[in-house]
Amino acid sequence: MSEPSQLDTFLGQRGVGRPLGQVLEGSLSSGLKIRLDPGFTLERLAVGRYVVIHGRQTGITFFGLITDIALEASDPGLIHRPPQGDDHFALDVYQGEVAYGTLHVSPMLMLEDDQDQPRPIKTIPSHFSHVFEASAEDVARVFGEEDETHFYVGTPLDMEAVQVNLDLARFVERSSGVFGKTGTGKSFITRTILAGIVQSGLASTLIFDMHNDYGWSVKDEAGREYKGLRQLYQDGRVSVITLDEVTSRARGSKIDGRLTIGYEDLEPEDVEMLASLLGLTDVQTQALYFLHRRLGKNWIGRLLSETEQDDDLQDMIDTGRIVPGTLGAIRRKFESFFPRMGFLVEGAADRVVDDIFQRLSIGTSVVLEFGNYGNTLAAYVLVANYLTRRIHARYVQMKNLAAGGKAEEPRPLVIVIEEAHKFLDPQIAAHTIFGAIARELRKYNVTLLIVDQRPSGIEDEVMSQIGTRVTCLLDNDADIRAVFSGVSGASTLREVLARLDTRQQALILGHAVPMPVVVRTRDYDQDFYASITDGPVADPARGETLFGE
Ligand SMILES: Nc1ncnc2c1ncn2[C@@H]1O[C@H](COP(=O)(O)OP(=O)(O)OP(=O)(O)O)[C@@H](O)[C@H]1O
Ligand SMILES: [Mg+2]
Repeated sequence: MSEPSQLDTFLGQRGVGRPLGQVLEGSLSSGLKIRLDPGFTLERLAVGRYVVIHGRQTGITFFGLITDIALEASDPGLIHRPPQGDDHFALDVYQGEVAYGTLHVSPMLMLEDDQDQPRPIKTIPSHFSHVFEASAEDVARVFGEEDETHFYVGTPLDMEAVQVNLDLARFVERSSGVFGKTGTGKSFITRTILAGIVQSGLASTLIFDMHNDYGWSVKDEAGREYKGLRQLYQDGRVSVITLDEVTSRARGSKIDGRLTIGYEDLEPEDVEMLASLLGLTDVQTQALYFLHRRLGKNWIGRLLSETEQDDDLQDMIDTGRIVPGTLGAIRRKFESFFPRMGFLVEGAADRVVDDIFQRLSIGTSVVLEFGNYGNTLAAYVLVANYLTRRIHARYVQMKNLAAGGKAEEPRPLVIVIEEAHKFLDPQIAAHTIFGAIARELRKYNVTLLIVDQRPSGIEDEVMSQIGTRVTCLLDNDADIRAVFSGVSGASTLREVLARLDTRQQALILGHAVPMPVVVRTRDYDQDFYASITDGPVADPARGETLFGE
């Protein structure tokens, strides 16, 4: 029996298998280059997998993610004179020694011997440190256990036994985003995360449900039905408020209320957000403010009726305060939109905001179901802005009262919006409530969860405030760049993102995970429902009796 080599002894002491390779060079910011041991083949590796690196002189263990894989040769002449395909002897000699594989690894975390929690990386392993494939235990140690505030959302690539748990407390603390091309699983992972938030009671959520993905039940492309949040939580923790009762009822949805907005509740600020969608010019948009001042609360109702019978309007034209062409254009554009929106009613209906605020403040999540109105982007933008502005204002008020000791802290709120680039594009993000919420961080306990397929359309400054990014496959360069904006060292993750499967895989990075991770997202199925039903029971103080069945 041959003597164990020094390396084997070293590895035996550490209880690890043979190394994948050794650290050759690199830096903290650009990542490490690893030379692959000839005993391993590149063909079995994949970007997105983890490695651990044992520091040579210290007891520090480093965690890193494979971000690129390459072939290299130490003899540059080799590529001009490659060994012939049938010369196995030459192939074997060259393979691994003169020609070898390299891995590019982004170091993510370090774990010191005397600690049990890994910390963010501050240094790198020294030259020739040994690199190993991370074991399931290594990865499980990093992502910890599922508990009241850590929610299982998926498994790392090729590690079905390991759970990746999102730190929900951190997730709701800052705005977050779910990105990906159409059909990659954004709505499914979003629904999973929202179920976790509801389960944890850490925040209320207000979901502007454009495509009817979250309420009672959801159908996928193949016609399979899945439970929505309202069906998962039938104890009053989730309410569905619909804009389109007929469609909601036809879909068999249980609903807890109907949203109506009165014409008199709408302010020019609410309509201004629709300017580009309705085709209002700058001049016409400015005129809205003037018309509102002149016509008072019922300005929209009056603009929609006969001008000839409205003395004030007639007077404005006669005295030249408004050009007939401008007025005519505004009226035409209003007529093409407002009367078609069945959730808009004559007069005022402002109890709706009170009702929704009330639910949110006791911890009930609200799914605002758009029914068929989800097909009209202007309806979505109008309602999302209308409610968010008013609910946010209540949160500001309540937070200020709480600061003076006159009220309780408002319960954290996560507002979920889809097609976010329509709200947060660089031209309007500066004025919208959504831009403001993203920028003010969690000052008033309100954060956003943005679901979008085109992150490049979202203003940079807003994107850079996004704490946790869950990204499914994206293939447009600009979108990929946008997802990484404001994340240091993230450019190395690009290859990982571009190589995701077309469905049900996501790269999660940021505030709510200890290190970036590629997951196969948790199946949204019977087992999932069961885990929710068997989970912790709702706190009765949250008002089951108020809204329960
Ligand atoms: N976690 C999951 N569990 C079960 N099925 C899933 C899961 N994720 C995705 N799918 C499948 O993939 C399909 C597409 O997912 P989803 O509707 O979430 O995509 P999307 O990114 O929201 O698309 P769009 O941009 O068109 O809204 C689903 O209909 C479902 O069949
Ligand atoms: Mg979707």
